[in-house]
Amino acid sequence: MTLQLKEVGFTYSRGTSFEYEALGGVSICLEPGDMTLVLGPTGSGKSTLLRVIAGLLRPIDGSIEMDGIRVDAPLLEQGSGLGLVFQNPEYQLFAETVLQDVAFGPMNMGYSREDASRLARHALESVGLPPDDFGPRSPFAMSGGEARRVALAGILAMKPRFLLLDEPTAALDATGRARVRSILQEVSAECGLLVATHDVEEFLGIASQVLILDQGRVVFCGTPEALIRDPAPFFEAGTQPPEILRTQLLAKANGIDVGEFSLDPGTVAVRLLAARSASRRGTTP
Ligand SMILES: Nc1ncnc2c1ncn2[C@@H]1O[C@H](COP(=O)(O)OP(=O)(O)O)[C@@H](O)[C@H]1O
Ligand SMILES: [Mg+2]
Repeated sequence: MTLQLKEVGFTYSRGTSFEYEALGGVSICLEPGDMTLVLGPTGSGKSTLLRVIAGLLRPIDGSIEMDGIRVDAPLLEQGSGLGLVFQNPEYQLFAETVLQDVAFGPMNMGYSREDASRLARHALESVGLPPDDFGPRSPFAMSGGEARRVALAGILAMKPRFLLLDEPTAALDATGRARVRSILQEVSAECGLLVATHDVEEFLGIASQVLILDQGRVVFCGTPEALIRDPAPFFEAGTQPPEILRTQLLAKANGIDVGEFSLDPGTVAVRLLAARSASRRGTTP
């Protein structure tokens, strides 16, 4: 099962004096089991890309194909197994209890009350909120991190095969971010994930594919390993690589041989120490 974008383009307010080309020539292929990151500075087109894939905006160029078949109707409305988690999805919680809120999606899909409740309980488990404890609570009496996970459970309960998430860790503290990351890592085993994020530190190490956008154009599309080896595309797009890579770039620029770049602070520390001892001995490591 694949979801493929071929040379997709989108322009806001087309044909008016406000016309703005927000995306151009974007090609990407999503498969269950993959996590694709969409990176880029604010205004680079990340949210627009998610809306175009979900069918909330209609591409003006290129095509979107599911298993090689062109999709023309909005994917979100087709029961095609595509889920979209908007930025700050907790603002959209509305029901009296957490369980009712999470069960709303499956009920809407036509599941019976019992089946919807079963799916909702399972989804709450998968985001680390035991349903016996959290199910009866009000969604409005939870911490920001818990509410975010309830909103995520609401989408997971619909069993999407492809899941698009817009800034899923925005405004969460370090614990909340780490929780969301590990939930998404687990979900990605069975689902194709597309994660638009500024939180490159949290996600680069677990992604299988990375797309970097700048002004709606693809600056980089490839593996995280290739990007870690050569982080230049971050700068090309006007953003920054993770701090751990900046440290190694700085070391290299100062003539310190740190070897192949790594995201692991322990590995980097050992290499820097080895380089220091070598330079004290007057040898290269
Ligand atoms: N409804 C809209 N009408 C016109 N322009 C928009 C609209 N929404 C977004 N844009 C413009 O499209 C560009 C991409 O926006 P967006 O996709 O939100 O970027 P990102 O999510 O990367 O911050 C920005 O320049 C933004 O101002
Ligand atoms: Mg955005």
